Amino acid sequence: MNKTNPIGFFDSGIGGLTVVKAVTRLMPNENIVYFGDTARVPYGSKSNETVVEYSIQAANFLLRKNIKLLVVACNTASSVALNELRKFLTVPVIGMIEPGARMALSESKNKRIGVIGTRATINNKAYAHELKRLNPKVKVFEQACPLFVPLAEEGWLDHKATELIAKTYLSGMKENKIDSLILGCTHYPILADIIQKVVGKNVKLVDSGTPAARLVEDYLNGRGLRNQSVHHGQSEFYVSDVPTKFREIAETFLGRKITHLHKVELEELTNE
Ligand code: DGL
Repeated sequence: MNKTNPIGFFDSGIGGLTVVKAVTRLMPNENIVYFGDTARVPYGSKSNETVVEYSIQAANFLLRKNIKLLVVACNTASSVALNELRKFLTVPVIGMIEPGARMALSESKNKRIGVIGTRATINNKAYAHELKRLNPKVKVFEQACPLFVPLAEEGWLDHKATELIAKTYLSGMKENKIDSLILGCTHYPILADIIQKVVGKNVKLVDSGTPAARLVEDYLNGRGLRNQSVHHGQSEFYVSDVPTKFREIAETFLGRKITHLHKVELEELTNE
């Protein structure tokens, strides 16, 4: 394995860019290859079997790009497909759940932690199980927020409708006296300003991207795989549907121009 090989990321759409941003902030010289399954977003309302199948296809696509490590930059896929992926992949695989749960436990003082995520992540109790495994005394309050993903994909970051939907989803969280809220879907940090406004400034928002990025750095250092280049890394982005909206939101969110953005035909993913 070569140190200059890229780190691979996948998500159902733009959400995984929140993890890319955290990784490039920490390790700007790493090369990156990203796959957003925009033709099949959202994953969060699909069955576990379907999400596992899509995740395997995404991982295989990225392996063909010679990745040195895979970041499952999607909580839904991390909840249901991580073990399957680890069974057959020869590169290290990093998911979102464990780093997010660890960070929430270290941030929370009263150990009353809220978790918001897609229906799949919440129904699978991915965070609740992990938090309780790490600290059996923690109180966990969960809420699925399925409409947040299309709102983020649409770029409705400060829209009245987004605020109204956030208030509807999150009113119960305030009553539960949580002091930390896990953004258990990688799309949600894109809506962080509205979520913070609705839950109030005393609730700490926990984004798995930052601790996941630290884990990536530890893995690469531990295996002698950190890129030693003194230059900024290259980023390549692939999406499974027309890239126009993706480009617009990605460039705004990452604050830079995206030069390598390509559409992948679904047959290329499914014809293994
Ligand atoms: N961003 C993903 C997650 O973290 C998936 C959202 C979706 O496609 O429903 O769960």
